[in-house]
Amino acid sequence: MAVDVAGEVCRHTGRQMCPRCSWTRPREAALLVVRGRTARTAFPVALVVGTVLSLVNQGTTIVADTGTTSTWVRVAVNYAVPFIVASVGYLAGRRTSADATPWPRYLARYHDARPGITELLLEQATDRRAEQPYEWLLEPLPGRHAVILDLACGSAPTRELLPDARWLGVDFSAGELALAMAAGRGPVVRGRVERLPIGENAVGAVCAAMCLQVLTPLDAVLAEVKRVLRPGGTLVALVPSRMWFGRGLLGWWRVMRALGIRSQPWPNPDARDALPKILRAHGFIVDTSERRVFRREIGDPHAAALLLDGLYLPDIAPDRVEAARAALASWALPGRWLPFPLRRVVAHLPVAG
Ligand SMILES: C[S@@+](CC[C@H](N)C(=O)[O-])C[C@H]1O[C@@H](n2cnc3c(N)ncnc32)[C@H](O)[C@@H]1O
Repeated sequence: MAVDVAGEVCRHTGRQMCPRCSWTRPREAALLVVRGRTARTAFPVALVVGTVLSLVNQGTTIVADTGTTSTWVRVAVNYAVPFIVASVGYLAGRRTSADATPWPRYLARYHDARPGITELLLEQATDRRAEQPYEWLLEPLPGRHAVILDLACGSAPTRELLPDARWLGVDFSAGELALAMAAGRGPVVRGRVERLPIGENAVGAVCAAMCLQVLTPLDAVLAEVKRVLRPGGTLVALVPSRMWFGRGLLGWWRVMRALGIRSQPWPNPDARDALPKILRAHGFIVDTSERRVFRREIGDPHAAALLLDGLYLPDIAPDRVEAARAALASWALPGRWLPFPLRRVVAHLPVAG
């Protein structure tokens, strides 16, 4: 089992860093202090240093019982300062850079090992009107005569929903594309979306299903989308949305707790609910940005296992995932469901002027 930077085993993941004891932004560091994660290290230091300082500086006053409020404030400071210093030392060794995970390599291996996983998860998710996520995504696509590029198409679940379209899928996972071809979905091209094997202004629409939150570097990917999309062309994107309070939140909390993390990590976390802002910064005109909650039944252990399989968990040790699988298997029951909040963003390029 791997050890963490301080030489102790990370009790959440069994690895060097985990989202519950590491931080990237100052806000996360502050939360670690508030949640008491630094206390185990900082408390003994504060106890020893604070007691020594208080005895040396305020001992006589306290023993003579002549202490005032200011004496006790100083005693408190004697304990607080070493606590803060020791916490800062603890946190300094647990800072991770935002892009510490080698995402492209992880994603390539993940999708080759689990072809069709995103489709498997979403095809059984429905909203209140019994509509499925991919149907919702494709509704705004313009006339069927334009060439539609499915960016990071995976197993190409959109292909059958656009039977008359001039459709082309691009993805870098051989496993995903083999599944797409075996299902008669094509044409597909193996390639990286940050270097699309397509000419300028060649497509009339781009469909980005569940991918902009994982494609890196996102700036390069969006520049490529702009290059291949003709002026006035449409982009429809489907991305995960944040969980808000409501029914089902407890279910996701249970899943995350079983895995020992606070939330699922993404390569581009901002390319979810802040996607419209990102697209505008890249010169797109955003037409709509809508959130819809789909739900999927977690009715048996198989569905619970599929759910875990469908999460990107680059920093979680396999034995932790196994433990979570066992925990969630007994929780899964007919009629039990989890919400999948998704955001659909429709945007277009300005017509060349
Ligand atoms: C969450 S899946 C979505 C797949 C598909 N659009 C769907 O909805 O089922 C993300 C896809 O992005 C692909 N991918 C990730 N990075 C890529 C890259 N740099 N170039 C091409 N494909 C990439 C993966 O292989 C995977 O198929």
